[in-house]
Amino acid sequence: MPEFKIAVLVGSLRKGSHNQALAHALEKLAAGKARFDYVQIGDLPLYNQDFDSDYPAQGVRLKQQIRQADAVLFVTPEYNRSVPGVLKNAIDLGSRPYGDSAFAGKPAAVIGASVGVIGTALAQQHLRNILAYLDMPVLGQPEAFLHFKEGLIDAQGTITNAGTQTFLQGFVDRFLAWIDTHGGQH
Ligand code: FNR
Repeated sequence: MPEFKIAVLVGSLRKGSHNQALAHALEKLAAGKARFDYVQIGDLPLYNQDFDSDYPAQGVRLKQQIRQADAVLFVTPEYNRSVPGVLKNAIDLGSRPYGDSAFAGKPAAVIGASVGVIGTALAQQHLRNILAYLDMPVLGQPEAFLHFKEGLIDAQGTITNAGTQTFLQGFVDRFLAWIDTHGGQH
């Protein structure tokens, strides 16, 4: 299997984000098999359809980064039982103008961590709806809803719970096989 390039969109901008820590932990588990390319989404303008005739530079950058990747990984918290606005805005920018989406056909996976016990399940279901519309083949199983507890991931990105580590290694391995099956498209 080649070493894949995976564009990673983290749906939280805060310092100390559990989802950012989760993304780094997954990166470690994929070491030697995939490179993670973190996509900056915090400086994107709010999508406006007027952009379609003159796209902002940050939107062009975002789309290039997605296009250069073999696959896209979404690592997101749940906000008010859905996807954080900052992530939805990035998706909207990457998907337009109509007919020129950077996401179409890219294999994808979704995962998230929350302090709540449902572990972002509802946000992930909403996200899956969006990605289906964008024509992305999204990994179906395993679903990964992480109930985050302090200390689960240390500062080096190591998962401190053996069962969680095994589960997340399985998630990463299935995703890599999924990318291989669906052939990265750049
Ligand atoms: C939350 N949080 C939250 N948690 C959850 O399980 N379901 C939810 O619907 C929400 N809603 C929500 C809305 C808003 C605006 C905030 C700020 C937070 C709590 C959330 O899980 C917690 O803040 C996580 O730590 C956010 O992820 P990061 O920033 O640590 O990656």
